[in-house]
Amino acid sequence: MIYFDSAATAFHRPPAVRQAVLDALDTFGSPGRGAHEATLTAARAVYTCRTRLAALFGLSDPARVCFASNATEALNTAISGLFSPGDHVITTALEHNSVLRPLYRLRDAGLELTILPADEKGNLNYDDFAHALRPNTRGVVCTHASNVTGNAVDLDAVGAFCRAHGLLFVVDTAQSAGVLDLNMEKTSISVLCFTGHKGLLGPQGTGGLCVAPRVTVRPLKVGGSGVLSFAEHHPSELPTGLEAGTLNAHGIAGLSAGVDFVLSTGASTIRAREHALARRLYEGVREIPQIKVYGDWDSPYRTAVVALNLGDYDAGAVADALAQDYGICTRAGAHCAPLMHRALGTEEQGVVRFSFSYFNTEDEVDQAVCALRTLAE
Ligand code: ALA
Repeated sequence: MIYFDSAATAFHRPPAVRQAVLDALDTFGSPGRGAHEATLTAARAVYTCRTRLAALFGLSDPARVCFASNATEALNTAISGLFSPGDHVITTALEHNSVLRPLYRLRDAGLELTILPADEKGNLNYDDFAHALRPNTRGVVCTHASNVTGNAVDLDAVGAFCRAHGLLFVVDTAQSAGVLDLNMEKTSISVLCFTGHKGLLGPQGTGGLCVAPRVTVRPLKVGGSGVLSFAEHHPSELPTGLEAGTLNAHGIAGLSAGVDFVLSTGASTIRAREHALARRLYEGVREIPQIKVYGDWDSPYRTAVVALNLGDYDAGAVADALAQDYGICTRAGAHCAPLMHRALGTEEQGVVRFSFSYFNTEDEVDQAVCALRTLAE
């Protein structure tokens, strides 16, 4: 099997991730619930993961790294915990439904929403941010990179806009964490939402939100906190304030090993390898007359995604042929990103998305080029 679906979830992981989960299953109690050896072992491992994530994301205080079960839960927490009916929020057509649906739900309750368009290459026009500004604009929510095209958003430009106008800046790093550079402080990010099971190489069921100093997020969930049990209200101090219930500490142990791999290898090294693989596929297929590749390939600032179509064939049928006849795993369809597909004109056909990891090989890419050439013929 050739796995080219890392934008959906990682498949190949460093062996240390599996070992960390196995060790955690054998040794962990419930972190933050008591003070015996097993609970302390778990608490120390969870704290280590917070410190690694804080280092990766340029956040000075690891206590402001709060775990959630995935980026969707983190984004729901951030969006519903920062914005209210009457506020105006700016977002983009590049977004995944994990951003759009929480915003649409708030819009139904009275939030004002502006969605900035993307052009046919999937790019934003950064001047649009200033044009969208209203007196009640409270924040910007945007992805770091499109899960459909791989185009990255210039977070420095959006962060500077937010800083200049005193806006909250929520970033969805589901496609970029572990691969593209991120620095919350430098980029003025208020809340950075991440998933653990893609570029951070952890298990599914891990993710979270990093909250900048002086930013307050109302919790989505309240309940058990392990402290202040007689208080009627959930404690507000982070990370507990956004972590009701027992953490997925076994998963977090695996995530910690994944983040350790990213930190020790270097996101730039990972990015260079993934980019080379994506570029190899792109160069191998771009001249095939029946193949159309989407996204902006003139910009080096992107993730390792190649989205394409073969003539007028339904993307799902092409992905099925790749899987059944060649053992090549891709993801077809709409990728939970309806506005991006609308901008690309692929609402009906979908696209076949190849996405790469550090662990793929040139030989695998060459096999995919051959398969696409044969299918095209
Ligand atoms: N959002 C994930 C993807 O793009 C699941 O495939």
